[in-house]
Amino acid sequence: MNDITVIGSNMIDLITYTNRMPVEGETIEAPEFEMGFGGKGSNQAVAAARLGSKVSMITMVGNDMFGKQHIENYRANQIDTTGVGIGTKNSGAAPIFVAEDSNNRILIIKGANNELTPSMLDKHLDQIKHSKLIILQQEIPLETNYYAIELGQKYHVPVLLNPAPADEHLNIDYVSQVEFFMPNETELATLTNLPTTTVEEITLAAKSLVDKGVKHVIVTLGSKGVLWINETEHMLIPSEKVNAIDTTGAGDAFIGAFSHYYTAGETIPEALKHANHYAAISVTKRGTQKSYPTSQEI
Ligand code: RIB
Ligand code: NA
Repeated sequence: MNDITVIGSNMIDLITYTNRMPVEGETIEAPEFEMGFGGKGSNQAVAAARLGSKVSMITMVGNDMFGKQHIENYRANQIDTTGVGIGTKNSGAAPIFVAEDSNNRILIIKGANNELTPSMLDKHLDQIKHSKLIILQQEIPLETNYYAIELGQKYHVPVLLNPAPADEHLNIDYVSQVEFFMPNETELATLTNLPTTTVEEITLAAKSLVDKGVKHVIVTLGSKGVLWINETEHMLIPSEKVNAIDTTGAGDAFIGAFSHYYTAGETIPEALKHANHYAAISVTKRGTQKSYPTSQEI
């Protein structure tokens, strides 16, 4: 049995490096383009697997040439593909624009990811039940995530929910049941309706979720680091200073790495520190999964 089950998305990332966006009716030339495997779920799975975790991916790839390539990509990364289904729609795609300051803008077209229904989880119940951690994001139907959270409760498997991209319909009754809730500042603001511009405000907003039952809230703050809070503890772990080139997928690198270190037995602060290091390496290189190091490389 595998240690980590990721129930989530796959996308083909179409990354354009440009310092400005064209205005309506305008054509401009961008200096560079890269295509690669992405999708928040797959990214997190690949990061954990490259560090040595035994990972199983439950996802719906498209009924097109990219679908087959995704499956090959999982295999190349030693990810169990028993839970990979082929949908009727096209594979998910993500046009991404990266500016010179390394920051990005992302559009997602979910495609076959929308076909990942709760019934697919029943088919892979054995894998889900016996994992040490279930990881979820929000690029598949919300009801599938809710069902995964129910399964986690029923079989005592901790759930990590990364509420990305933010969805104002996310139901707090489900969120309150997870072990790890890992938003960024904006995603935290969407769910709590509280301001999240300063560390103090972020701490209060995160605390409001701990009060509702979430065990650990871990807020990723980009270059400012990560904030971890539970009932009794509260800590800000600064991020490492690096020469950032492309931050696309850095949050996913962080979550995948955290999941690896945590399920391997590290304490939460240790796992957060090591995950910070992993994500820092990823931003120094172009691309999403392409920029994730292996355990030998770090
Ligand atoms: O978090 C980065 C990811 O978001 C990209 O890989 C893209 O596919 C979108 O899902
Ligand atoms: Na990168």
